[in-house]
Amino acid sequence: MNREEALESIKANVKNENMVKHMLATEAIMQALARRLGEDEGEWGLTGLLHDIDVELTGGDMKAHSKLGADLARELGANETMAHAILCHNETHGIPLETKLDKALFCVDPLTGLIIAATLVRPNKKLAGLEAKSVKKRFKEKSFAAGANRQHISQCGEIGLELGEFTELGVTAMQGIAADLGL
Ligand SMILES: [Fe+2]
Repeated sequence: MNREEALESIKANVKNENMVKHMLATEAIMQALARRLGEDEGEWGLTGLLHDIDVELTGGDMKAHSKLGADLARELGANETMAHAILCHNETHGIPLETKLDKALFCVDPLTGLIIAATLVRPNKKLAGLEAKSVKKRFKEKSFAAGANRQHISQCGEIGLELGEFTELGVTAMQGIAADLGL
């Protein structure tokens, strides 16, 4: 699979720009995580990039979300490991997280939302200069960006990263694509 085709397909299927940015952020963190863990950066990045490709096609039907996404990813050339991670990132299906890739996508997905929310409350609304420690502080405020599931983010422990390192890796990865994210 090539990234350009994947991105083209995402842009054809997802009109909400913030959603596309969420997928780009997920890609960037997944790549960084793959580098940190000695995993396949291309595979992990594309899994992150594609994980919500069906979000508008399934229109809020959580029983369909990520099943269709896994199928679309397969059509684009994703292997079964990638398709499985996409499928089980939606916990509605109750499919256990098995591989490292499954676990990584599951905890990275909500981290992007927390980092974006922590950025948007800064006076300059920029990722540049955002410190991981302030994201960690926000992590503890339950009502802040409540949609960013803290319990899911905490599962970074399952892939061997403490929350502090995980947050820092996420912030740095997103800062690297700040221009694409418009932040
Ligand atoms: Fe997502």
